[in-house]
Amino acid sequence: TEQSARELVSSLIASIPDFPEPGVTFRDLTPVFASGPALHALGTSLTEPFAGRFDVIGGVEARGFLIAGAASAICGAGVLTVRKAGKLPRAVLREDYALEYGTAALEVHEGELPPGSRVLIVDDVLATGGTVGAAARLVERAGWQVAGISVALELEGLGGREALGDRYEVFSLLQY
Ligand code: PRP
Repeated sequence: TEQSARELVSSLIASIPDFPEPGVTFRDLTPVFASGPALHALGTSLTEPFAGRFDVIGGVEARGFLIAGAASAICGAGVLTVRKAGKLPRAVLREDYALEYGTAALEVHEGELPPGSRVLIVDDVLATGGTVGAAARLVERAGWQVAGISVALELEGLGGREALGDRYEVFSLLQY
């Protein structure tokens, strides 16, 4: 169940004070990824709220790939790889997004999916929302639909949910 997934995943998240800088507490999900039952629970609980409403899982590089892969094995949908800029070899669409210092960019291959495909975007963490917001814009520019945005951990107070607005359905398993 969602409650048992929540308990298992939260028990494995490591909190590291003052990383990467003083005053910041880093939430490390690597113990979740290293646990078969926890990764399986993540793949299930992040897709279940959108069951029957998506065709493909959009995994955001890099940690989103792990969740997308696990979810794919569970529900049978394929994975759209939303990659950091400069990695994809064919014609791409690109979206820039803000980081704390500077900008980054995500890309997808044009025409990777049939027009109108419903893409469920998954990632490990929602912080400012810049990353999944850029992924959502890419999906729409490519001619597909955003079925929703689903993350393991939402860091409240960083404005991610607000930045994404009412446009997308956003699910988070845990909120810190
Ligand atoms: C982290 C995390 C999310 C994003 C969340 O990725 O995995 O993708 O930041 O932050 P935001 O909501 O403020 O955009 P990072 O850019 O560190 O990349 P990585 O997964 O490749 O390490």
